[in-house]
Amino acid sequence: MALWGGRFQGETSALFKLFNDSLPVDYRLFEQDVVGSIAWADAIASVGIITAQECTDLKAALNELLLEVGNDDPQAIISNGAEDIHSFVEQKLIAKVGDLGKKLHTGRSRNDQVATDLKLWCKKEGAALLARLGTLHAELIDLAEREVDAVMPGYTHLQRAQPVTFGHWALAYVEMYERDISRLQDALSRADSCPLGSGALAGTAYPIDRHALASALNFARPTLNSLDSVSDRDHVVELCSAASISMMHLSRMAEDLIFFNSGEANFISLADEVTSGSSLMPQKKNPDALELIRGKTGRVYGSLMGILTTMKALPLAYNKDMQEDKEGLFDVVDSWAICLDMAALVLSGLKVNRPQALVAAQQGYANATELADYLVAKGMPFREAHHVVGEVVVFAISQQKPIEDLTVAELQKFAKVISDDVYPNLTIEACLEKRDVLGGTAVNQVAAAIAAKKA
Ligand code: ARG
Repeated sequence: MALWGGRFQGETSALFKLFNDSLPVDYRLFEQDVVGSIAWADAIASVGIITAQECTDLKAALNELLLEVGNDDPQAIISNGAEDIHSFVEQKLIAKVGDLGKKLHTGRSRNDQVATDLKLWCKKEGAALLARLGTLHAELIDLAEREVDAVMPGYTHLQRAQPVTFGHWALAYVEMYERDISRLQDALSRADSCPLGSGALAGTAYPIDRHALASALNFARPTLNSLDSVSDRDHVVELCSAASISMMHLSRMAEDLIFFNSGEANFISLADEVTSGSSLMPQKKNPDALELIRGKTGRVYGSLMGILTTMKALPLAYNKDMQEDKEGLFDVVDSWAICLDMAALVLSGLKVNRPQALVAAQQGYANATELADYLVAKGMPFREAHHVVGEVVVFAISQQKPIEDLTVAELQKFAKVISDDVYPNLTIEACLEKRDVLGGTAVNQVAAAIAAKKA
């Protein structure tokens, strides 16, 4: 039976029920709905709506329900056919304690109830996501440490630019995931306010101590305006936004690794446990895990756009449009969570093919900047040195040689100041070691950065 039957004489259509019911989605708020109801029982007891004994009986029944139902078998909840999770819990409660169960909704609305449930859910899932981000962060730091001095080409425009270490590459993503962690923490701190006691929209009609209610539910504070309380979904938008930015980072990392793993680059090998084969081509070992991380980024962005668009132009206060907030959010959290776990697993088994990566770093004139810096040290203005080295590169390409294989006589045709002492400047080691500045790729800088992250 619906919670609102009295006002109606006709039956609702089956199509409307199918369209309107949210239980197949919001069953995931079961635990939060019961926990919120327990706190509400205390709140209405404290203002004399129910007696202390009634409160004890209601809470005992709610706790029993929590144990009986659980979230393990969604079908057990969904098949009940209630309109939403709030109706489901109330129905079950009434089945247990009879008329007493009908007192619990005094002074409360499903509007402040759903807002509270969803914030409780965001806080719980948010904490789990922070833990997952922490695991990925630690896995990347491990990888950076294992490969602190593995040399590979660094790219701009997907053109080999300057050599970097693999450790340096890994630490770039560490920075991104640290920002993701702080963004999520920030979103969660704003979500940490309790809407319960706001009623349908105007505030509950009973003198409930909303500060006490908020702390009973482990919220940092109560919300302060009842209209805002029941119509605010910023926490959903912010979680989807934090997830989207983080998925963008995961997707970029996946893309880098897919390229590093390609036959053309072959800088890394991925573990068998995170790759799959082709049904036709026996030689294939495909980076499916990484491609799916890249692929799932799209649906997460889609849900962010979905909730932003749903909320746009909604008048105050609650509107049923807002029931559409959950499906996207749940999918965002599930997708982000599994991608974080998957990324950590991929990194744990990743091996750098050092010889191939080193050879690639030595190709493509990645030491051209070093020659220009050498000319600067000999007194040539950088702009002129840049031009001269450009000409050297054109010549080297015509000879099909790297710069360091040109003779001093050949090099002197471009700049007389070049002598034998040029060659030590052109080695990979020199390229790396010169970047010995905060944030640079020199091995000791990367090692220091790793040590700082671990501390
Ligand atoms: N299932 C609804 C939702 O998720 C609960 C709130 C219903 N409130 C109402 N006034 N119909 O938004």
